[in-house]
This record gives sequence, C-alpha cells and structure tokens, in this order.
Amino acid sequence: MLENVVPPLDIAHLGTPVKLREIFPNRKIIVDFGAGMGHHTEDLASQGFGVLAIDVHTPGICRIAEFVTEKNLDNVRVHLGDGIPILESVLEAGCVDELHVMFPDPWPKARHNKRRVIQHSLFELADRILTSDGTITMVTDDDDYAEHIAAVLAESPLFELASSEASIPATRYKRRADHMKNSIHGFIAQRK
Ligand SMILES: C[S@@+](CC[C@H](N)C(=O)[O-])C[C@H]1O[C@@H](n2cnc3c(N)ncnc32)[C@H](O)[C@@H]1O
Repeated sequence: MLENVVPPLDIAHLGTPVKLREIFPNRKIIVDFGAGMGHHTEDLASQGFGVLAIDVHTPGICRIAEFVTEKNLDNVRVHLGDGIPILESVLEAGCVDELHVMFPDPWPKARHNKRRVIQHSLFELADRILTSDGTITMVTDDDDYAEHIAAVLAESPLFELASSEASIPATRYKRRADHMKNSIHGFIAQRK
C-alpha cells in the first residue's frame, strides 16, 4: 500500500523548487506540518484548500494518501519525512498562504524543550515560504508549550500574534484534549 499510494502524491519526487502554485492553481495553499493521521488535512481538503501534508509517521501519510486516492482529490499532496528540509529548501519561496502546526509534540522535559518544532528557526523558515500576508497557525493543549509559543512569538522579529481564535481541527489530539478536559490554546501569527 505504501509503495502504491504515497509516491505519486509525494512532492519529494518532483524537482526543486516545488511550485505549489502550479500544483494547486487558484487555491489557497496550506501546509499541515506534522499532519499525524490527517484529520485536519482531510477537513481542509474538503473545504477546497490546496494542502501539503507533511509527517515522518508512515501510517498517517498512508491514511492521507488512501483517502486522497479513493476520493480522487486533486488538492492534496504529501511528504513522508522530515518537514524541515522541505520548508528550508524544497518549496518555492513565498508560495504558501498558511502554515499550520496542530498539536505539536510537547517534549515536556526541560532538557528536551529544544526538540520542540516551534522555535525561532521555524519562524525563519515560515518567513521564506509564506506569502507576504501569510500566517502561521499553532494549536496546543499543553499549557507549558503554549507559554513557550507565546514567548517565541514575543521575541520574534518576524512574526507577531494576530489572533488567539484559531479554529481547532477535530483531530485525535483534539479528542484527547477534550477527554482530559485540557484547555486548547490557539495562536495565529502574522508578519510584523
Ligand atoms: C502530536 S502529533 C499531532 C498530529 C496532528 N497534527 C494532530 O493534530 O492530530 C505531532 C506530529 O508531528 C510530527 N512531526 C514532528 N516533527 C516533525 C518533522 N520535523 N517533520 C514532519 N513531521 C513531524 C510527528 O510525527 C507527529 O505525527
């Protein structure tokens, strides 16, 4: 299944730079970074966005590739692997309207905090790939991570908080947060 459905959709098989504007003409383009099992991607795709779903997690990318293939969708592409090099050098600059990072791994131990995906370095990559009025949407149910995001944003020379009213995707992590009665924190960042 992995060999059949993922490669035709994986942008890694295209030459660089990958021009998402040509792949998704006339659509708003969203990168779902760390897409997990793909519920947010599925929702965005059903709304007509062009979505690039990225994750290192094979079952999630396979699930996305399966529903895209079954429904014959032309507005989703995937990348199975580390998303950082994709933002760093694979995507054409300035081609993404929104970067979404939904329920990133919290890495709660202080000595692991540097593994958190939301860091100033991610904002620098967002600055490269986003359109001039592009935004970064971040959602977490981890209070400590929410404080971390607020601090990274407060110190950012590139982005600032535009809104805390991010719409929360009905992913597995959203259900888990609801079950545990965790507060969900949303951040939409725009360029300064
Ligand atoms: C806690 S899960 C959240 C999944 C999904 N966004 C959701 O809300 O259900 C975080 C996901 O980020 C992925 N991830 C973390 N770092 C990544 C990276 N550098 N590149 C691609 N995926 C990454 C993990 O594999 C994992 O699937």
